[in-house]
Parts: sequence; C-alpha cells; structure tokens
Amino acid sequence: MLRFARDAYFSELPMPTLHDPISLRGLACPNRVFMAPLTRQRARAPGDVPHELHAEHYAQRASFGLIIAEATQISPEGKGYPNTPGIYSPEQVAGWKLVTERVHAAHGRIFLQLWHVGRVSHVHHQLDGQAPVSSMAVRSTGQVSVRQADGRRERVQASEPRALATAEMPRILEDYAHAMRCAKQAGFDGIEIHGANSYLINQFLSGSLNTRDDAWGGAIENRLRLLLEVTDLGVAEFGASRVGVRLSPMGSVKDLPVHHDDEELMRRAAQALGARGLSYLHLYNHYWPTEKWQGPFTEQLAREMKERFAGPIVLNGYGADTASAEQDLEGGLGDAIAFGKLAISNPDLPERLAAGVALAPWDAATFTGDDAVGYNDYPRAT
Ligand SMILES: Cc1cc2nc3c(=O)[nH]c(=O)nc-3n(C[C@H](O)[C@H](O)[C@H](O)COP(=O)(O)O)c2cc1C
Repeated sequence: MLRFARDAYFSELPMPTLHDPISLRGLACPNRVFMAPLTRQRARAPGDVPHELHAEHYAQRASFGLIIAEATQISPEGKGYPNTPGIYSPEQVAGWKLVTERVHAAHGRIFLQLWHVGRVSHVHHQLDGQAPVSSMAVRSTGQVSVRQADGRRERVQASEPRALATAEMPRILEDYAHAMRCAKQAGFDGIEIHGANSYLINQFLSGSLNTRDDAWGGAIENRLRLLLEVTDLGVAEFGASRVGVRLSPMGSVKDLPVHHDDEELMRRAAQALGARGLSYLHLYNHYWPTEKWQGPFTEQLAREMKERFAGPIVLNGYGADTASAEQDLEGGLGDAIAFGKLAISNPDLPERLAAGVALAPWDAATFTGDDAVGYNDYPRAT
C-alpha cells in the first residue's frame, strides 16, 4: 500500500503509511502502528512481579507493529511508583516469560523498556527508606505516588535525592547489564532504553541539572556518557539491531528546565546512537499537539536528529490525532508512530486504523488500577 509523494523533488520516493510494513534493522514489523510504553501499575506485590493479567494485556495487542512494554525498573532502587514491574529477580523473569510467550504465540513482537527513575522516587519505595539517587542532590518538585496504609494511591512530592558518587557508576551500569540479561532470559525481542521523561538517564543528560564536575556531568560529552554506556551494554547483550532508545527532546517535565545547549545535546545524542546502528530512536514530543513542532522541540530539530541517526525514527505524542501522525509519517519526519493512550483503549488499533473503524476513547481513571478493569476489558472492534 505504498503511496508516492506528489512533491516533484521526492517523486521517486515511496512514502509510507501507518499500514505499511517496516523492517527495524531486520526485525520485520507488519505495520508502523507501535504501542508506546505505558506504566499501568498492576504488578504483583511483594516483588513487583508481572503476571497473567499482563500476558493477556500484551497478547491482546500483538497486532501492533511493535509492542514496547511498560517502563520496568532495573533494580529496586530504580522504582518510583507502586506496583511497577521489575526485571531483576527470577520471579520477575518468570512473570515476563508468560508475557513474551503469549505475545509470540499471537505472532507479535515485544521490546521491554528499561527504567531507572533516579530522583523521581520516594523514600517509601527505596530499600530501608534510603534517599533516591540522581546525578545531583537536587530535589524535584515533580510528583510520584505511594500507597497509603489502606492501599490507596496518593500523589506526593519526590523525596530529597543524593548524588551518585563517581565510584558508584559501575554499579549502576552493572544493574543495567543484569536487567538486560534478565530481559533476554525472559524472551524479549529487544529492549528500549528509557532516556526520556526526566528519569535517571535524562537527569544525567540535563544541562540544567547535571553540573557534576566528574566524567559523568558538565560538558555535553560527559552528560551523554550514561546514556551511551548503557546503550553499549544493551548492544553487547542483544545486538545493536535489537536496542532502541527513547528520548524526549527539549522536554522539561518533573522540574528539568530546558537548557541552552539541549538542542546540541540532542543532535549529538542522535549522531552517537546512530553510529551504533540501533533498532530505532524513539522521540516523544512533549509539546504536541498544542504547539505542533513549533517548539521547543521543533520540526527542524526532529529532522536534524533523523538525519544524524540515519536509522528508523519512531515518533510519539499525538493523542487521538491519528491524521497528524499519518501526515508526519508521509512527510518523512519519522518511520513509525507509537501510540500511547489510544493503545490503552483500542487493543486492535492497527486493524481499526486500516479499516477506518471508529476509535474508542480512553478512561484516565483506570490508567492505574489493581485488576483487569480498564486494562483487559476494552473490546476489539475488528
Ligand atoms: C498511563 C500512562 C503511562 C505511561 N507510561 C510510560 C512509560 O512507562 N514509559 C514511557 O516512556 N512513557 C510513558 N507514558 C508516556 C506515553 O508512552 C506516551 O509518550 C504519551 O502517552 C504520549 O503519547 P500518546 O499521545 O499517544 O498517548 C505513559 C503515558 C500514560 C498516559
């Protein structure tokens, strides 16, 4: 179903639609409608173990070109919210195995997003009530959630963090490497490194926060170090063609203000990641749809990153505006679109889009929850 661009300059280039297949460096995806990573806080406690509920949820979505499974902490320290799953214990590996087996049985493809929240956490979630860690000992005004004694979730300000010592960085890397081995054992087709949304890797990337004076902060090449070293661990474990990276260029959520060299940082990140031949680069535009590519994450920056990465670009942040997503794909800004909220309420989103079937709205009240309600009970329409 390839269409040809009308613009004379590109008249020889077929422009893809959401319904065209894509090869992610050899991984054949039947369409370009990807499932964005979505934290739903339904892992079993104690132990933060995914289970049958997750297997059913992801299997229902096996027709997405690629499923990027929810942010999953690489270690107990990497946790910032109640009931988010981990990928470091044998029980978690067994739980995730249920998921990957069900998805593969349904002919799907699934990557796992690897997460360390850094300072976006609370002493409540940390072993022995210790302080969360970050690039700097600067508290975020951002919020996390904790469970009260009666089981209710409550939003609270993130706790005061401590800065990781230089000597601790190898231990952080080993935690990532261990989680990658676990993800491999659990049968994932690949991993996505979570470098977005102001979590640990983003806290190292940030020029407004990370003014460390060691090799892990200050200058751009130092701020990129954690992202690239973690990426290289992923490449060693999975091979470059099965490692994706998610960034949120110019994002400023959870108290990480935009910095004057952020654009240059993003261009250099794209270049360095591109040189590694990764599966894809996933760009979440925090400013869409209110200011479509008008800034701070501009279309020009998106194009520069695409050019430097020189590999598959996944775009995200369109809400329910699938027409704009399709337009950006056809305009050559990206190669696939990850849908978040629409994937929650439309388990058969690729088929619905292909058939022109009406899309179901999502219910934010059940984004988090303890059971199948709002999770596994959205019906198919195709
Ligand atoms: C309930 C919910 C959970 C989310 N969890 C994650 C996550 O685990 N990892 C991540 O990188 N982004 C997460 N996001 C952001 C989404 O992946 C996506 O970037 C955002 O929803 C914008 O895309 P959309 O407009 O298609 O929904 C979450 C968003 C929502 C609504």
